[in-house]
Amino acid sequence: MLTLGIESSCDETSVSVTNGRKVLSNVVSSSVHLHKKYGGVVPEIASRFHVEYIIEVLEKALRSSGKSLKDVRLVAVTNGPGLVGALLTGISVAKSISYSIDRPLIGVNHILAHLYSSFLNEEPPEFPFVGLVVSGGHTALFYCEDTGSQRLLGSTQDDAVGEAYDKVAKILGLGYPGGPVIDRLAKKAFGESAIPFPKSYLGKGSLDFSFSGVKTAVLYYVHNLRQRKHELGKKEIQDICYSFQEAALDALVDKVIKAAEMTGSKRIVVGGGVAANSRLREKMAELASFSSMKIHFPELKYCMDNAAMIGYLGETLYKKGSRSGLYLSAEPNLEIINVK
Ligand code: KG4
Ligand code: ZN
Repeated sequence: MLTLGIESSCDETSVSVTNGRKVLSNVVSSSVHLHKKYGGVVPEIASRFHVEYIIEVLEKALRSSGKSLKDVRLVAVTNGPGLVGALLTGISVAKSISYSIDRPLIGVNHILAHLYSSFLNEEPPEFPFVGLVVSGGHTALFYCEDTGSQRLLGSTQDDAVGEAYDKVAKILGLGYPGGPVIDRLAKKAFGESAIPFPKSYLGKGSLDFSFSGVKTAVLYYVHNLRQRKHELGKKEIQDICYSFQEAALDALVDKVIKAAEMTGSKRIVVGGGVAANSRLREKMAELASFSSMKIHFPELKYCMDNAAMIGYLGETLYKKGSRSGLYLSAEPNLEIINVK
């Protein structure tokens, strides 16, 4: 079923043409360069960027798929969570197209789209599995029995893990987004002189996360160093990146192991921007090597925000009977609904 996917929840404007798990095109245009100097996404700038570029991105996606709007059978669009102004652009375009070609429209939850993005891989996961979504706005663990049938096991009580990466990068003056640069600098530290930043577990048995403690510990550590001398050296920055990353990722991996034990799952599926992290992939591969666990990560291009994951999930849910109408609204705080 040829599906037009539209994603505009944050700083990426993306349009895709998909057919089931097959991606015919997936065009992404990012406004990240415009937010760099502010150290985070500025909602108004992101919204204006979507308005300016979405039609160009749509035309490019159609052109490179070799299809035209009249071939489209379903329009899938992110309707939350995200920035309200940003979401509205994608939703307005999706509604206009759906109305003008007289094809159905379906709203898609952005977090769930990350959760099921590994289904775009050549070898998709099998059910059931423990799903981990790690992005700039969310950190959540799920137990998934089928596409769209998931139970929330735990989530962050404060910062999302990607947000912690971004804030630590800001403290260190490394720019936005923080994930890729910390990932790269941490590799240069080779684990030497690791700083014991706290790992937060929120009590025995809890599957929730907390990353504000480790972020604050980095802030104090850097503040103390800066009080003693003028600027941080290259090696100090690499050590901080390494130690922060180890503390944050160990807490993630440990909770994933606990969730797998508690649910008896043998499969783990990761999604979201932080799923691009090389050290997280390494740690999960280590886990797979000494257990019978099978781990799935999305391809790098499907870790970051993209429309293909929206099109895929929208089509799958549509085929299972989900529907939205032209009254679909932007839901900035859209929650995950437990479906069994
Ligand atoms: O999923 P995403 O593109 O957007 C949201 O839905 O939030 O995730 C963006 C987040 C940012 O916080 C960014 O710093 C983080 O993903 N990120 C990474 C890496 N690449 C992107 N974090 C750690 N390591 C990376 N390599
Ligand atoms: Zn995202």
